[in-house]
Amino acid sequence: MSVTIGAPLTATATRVMLLGSGELGKEVAIELQRLGVEVVAVDRYAGAPAHQVAHRAHVIDMLDGSALRALIASERPDVVVPEIEAISTPTLQELEAEGGLRVVPTALAARLTMDREGIRRLAAEELGLPTSPYRFEDTFAGFSRAVRAIGLPCVVKPVMSSSGKGQSVVRSADDVAPAWEHAQTGGRGSGRAARAETRPGAGGDAGAGGDAGAGGDAPGERVIVEGFVDFDYEITMLTVRHVGGVTICEPVGHVQVDGDYRESWQPQPMAPAALARARAMAADITAALGGWGIFGVELFVKGEEVIFSEVSPRPHDTGLVTLASQDLSEFALHARALLGLPVPEILQLGPSASCAVVASGQGVPVFEDVDRALAEPTVQLRLFGKPEVLGHRRVAVAAARAETIAAARARARRAAEALTVRLV
Ligand SMILES: Nc1ncnc2c1ncn2[C@@H]1O[C@H](COP(=O)(O)OP(=O)(O)OP(=O)(O)O)[C@@H](O)[C@H]1O
Ligand SMILES: [Mg+2]
Repeated sequence: MSVTIGAPLTATATRVMLLGSGELGKEVAIELQRLGVEVVAVDRYAGAPAHQVAHRAHVIDMLDGSALRALIASERPDVVVPEIEAISTPTLQELEAEGGLRVVPTALAARLTMDREGIRRLAAEELGLPTSPYRFEDTFAGFSRAVRAIGLPCVVKPVMSSSGKGQSVVRSADDVAPAWEHAQTGGRGSGRAARAETRPGAGGDAGAGGDAGAGGDAPGERVIVEGFVDFDYEITMLTVRHVGGVTICEPVGHVQVDGDYRESWQPQPMAPAALARARAMAADITAALGGWGIFGVELFVKGEEVIFSEVSPRPHDTGLVTLASQDLSEFALHARALLGLPVPEILQLGPSASCAVVASGQGVPVFEDVDRALAEPTVQLRLFGKPEVLGHRRVAVAAARAETIAAARARARRAAEALTVRLV
């Protein structure tokens, strides 16, 4: 198959629309720009990182199916690339089924992974991958029973949420009601409506708006209750499905704080049996989702045991380390795969690490001491260009290589810490 790429901004253009324009989308947009693709970036607020490097930028509510459909009709992209989970994925499925629109990797993959229930049931019940024990509930009474059934400690998450939002660990009976309340306010707010929309016949209660407070049987935001996995370490298996087959990157180890990634490194040293299992699980889950593109398969490892956690059908934040560690970063790999271009063997450049810079407070982030942060060899910085911080927000990342993983982590951390973020 011959791949043709036209000239951007002409009738011949190869046009890609990014749904979500954060820091990961910005890197994808840059990689697409390098290949002469016309890039259209969409987000729910103006001035998002990928907006700043796209040919055109749009602001819409991507959970609004008719707004999404209208924008796709007017832009007529060849390919749509979801960058976040909060999208009206049923609309993407309709457009894909009507023909003419290619969704990366597939609209079904985007739909299944936006809802923890879809992906967990696929992994555990259809593919038989090992996972933590789990239950899904949407009433407080059912939730309380689920916590008893799973046992303590357990982890509670809204089914529609990401970056650790609404997530907590129940360690004692006192934590049960607060965990429910936290999940009710921390979800995407679309748990009920989206369920009714995506699962006809599921008896959803869209629009009922019942009391979701503790103590009631009224349905609220749906949650997953998961057994707590006492893992030795956790990894992301970046897996690329492309025209020539499947390429699995070296494992990325990472540390999370409050459900949000702070540091990652590659390669994570693993026992050969655990690595073989991790690779097999990454191949299985991505084959089930199908399509072309990169996936971040999140796994927990304890000894030689590997437990599936979740998967993102898009570049993964922990994969920012590949900016330093691989000749083709996860963003370059995604761009190639989605365009149907080859992904030859990936060159590993040496032990590498990334360290996120998180700002807290309110205001416009301004970076001071950028020169100090960039003083050491191999260090790369990405300042995302986010126009505002409100609460906690990742605003930059440092990545670096060194002789060992420990030295690379220390170097990336030094660079991140050298940077001063002032909110003005
Ligand atoms: N069952 C579990 N047992 C132990 N730790 C867990 C469990 N589930 C989640 N965690 C911890 O919380 C982190 C975030 O969980 P998870 O990936 O499910 O949330 P998320 O909101 O999808 O986050 P993100 O969008 O950043 O991937 C995990 O990387 C892990 O460190
Ligand atoms: Mg995760």
